[in-house]
Amino acid sequence: MSVPGDKSISHRAAIMAALAEGDSRLYNFSTSADCASTLECLRRLGVTVERDGNVCHVQGVGRTGLRPSAEPLDCGNSGSTMRMLAGVLAGQDFVSELTGDESLNSRPMRRVIEPLELMGAQVSSVDGRAPLRIKGRRPLKAISYAMPVASAQVKSCILLAGLNAKGRTEVLEPPLSTRDHTERMLRYYGASVQQKQVERDGRTLVSVSVDGLARLRDRGGMIPGDISSAAFFIVAAALLPQSKLKIVNVGLNITRTASLFSTLTSLGAGLRINPAGSSSVAEDFYEPIGAIDVSGGAGLAPAEEGRSNVLGGALIPQLIDELPMLAVLGTQVLGGFTIKDASELRVKESDRITATVENLRAMGADVEEHEDGLTIKRRTQLHGAKLNSYGDHRIAMAFTVAALIAEGESYLAGADCVKVSFPEFFQTFRSVIER
Ligand code: S3P
Repeated sequence: MSVPGDKSISHRAAIMAALAEGDSRLYNFSTSADCASTLECLRRLGVTVERDGNVCHVQGVGRTGLRPSAEPLDCGNSGSTMRMLAGVLAGQDFVSELTGDESLNSRPMRRVIEPLELMGAQVSSVDGRAPLRIKGRRPLKAISYAMPVASAQVKSCILLAGLNAKGRTEVLEPPLSTRDHTERMLRYYGASVQQKQVERDGRTLVSVSVDGLARLRDRGGMIPGDISSAAFFIVAAALLPQSKLKIVNVGLNITRTASLFSTLTSLGAGLRINPAGSSSVAEDFYEPIGAIDVSGGAGLAPAEEGRSNVLGGALIPQLIDELPMLAVLGTQVLGGFTIKDASELRVKESDRITATVENLRAMGADVEEHEDGLTIKRRTQLHGAKLNSYGDHRIAMAFTVAALIAEGESYLAGADCVKVSFPEFFQTFRSVIER
């Protein structure tokens, strides 16, 4: 099987293609509603975007060529759209308004407002939440910013704003902290990006910086399949005895996969990763791609001394979107499973800790809720139940997998929200399940 193009990479490719000079064709563009929101916002900002199936043709207007939108820009359910466009709009010489659905307008935005104001934009909000009104300034001031939360969206917002800043804009974060698609993509489009390790207050940090006032060149390419969408199938295949599943053309960026694969293999899941080509092959968007083989039913338990069934610390930001799925997997781990240091989950598309705990309890799991995670106390055979997506695509998909491994039937309310990242999810599932 394959999965649709990566959502994170598609947002970035569309935005950078819009800011480039010339036309870019983006193949295997994400089919998600979130990326459609990004495209629609770009259109409202004067960019011509045509779509033919999964091919997206963007006619770039250059870094200073966007036009003000008469209407507020509707980011729908997409945090990436809002936070990344906030960075782009901060460096324009006009006023913009960014809004979203009820969920998005309740999520924290101070994390982007603060650095953008330091750079010289004026941003008003509703108590730190959207709608955001952004009065841009050109050029912005370059800043050096140590991120208080581990967030790729915040990092990307600042780096995109940095394109319209005078000088070099720097973001500091712990090593291998958050996904690095923006850094790769900026380079691919011709910006000058530097990454280096620095020591600050006795801590080793990674400094990512971009030179401002650069010109981006038009560049297209093939977007890899979304590893976060693949994750539901990987876990389902790992849990269902005798499964054999091959997922092809999927993104293997280490900042997305390292923690996920190490967690799964250390619990005994049967995974084989087959990167395509070698690092000397120039990859589209500088993103590695390959195939993943999964064989199921190994029985999950921490494999060796020193490996534990506690997931926390630096691993968390790299598999943040996979945590609801891993919590479901955790109900099948001998000795139980704990997720900690993950309070960011409470401010995603839903409060993913409460949503996961409530659904797991409905299915008979013995689970404790913590402020920053949850503990599944022992391995349990789940039973069918009435489940709720809480309007959150990742909850809907994680609990579809839970329903598959449960005894009896389950009903999932609000299942259509899967369209936010993976509209073909149920169809794809049907295509790989053997009855
Ligand atoms: C994303 C980063 C993550 C992730 C989201 C997509 C991105 O959010 O949860 O689904 O594309 O940069 P944060 O950066 O806020 O953790």
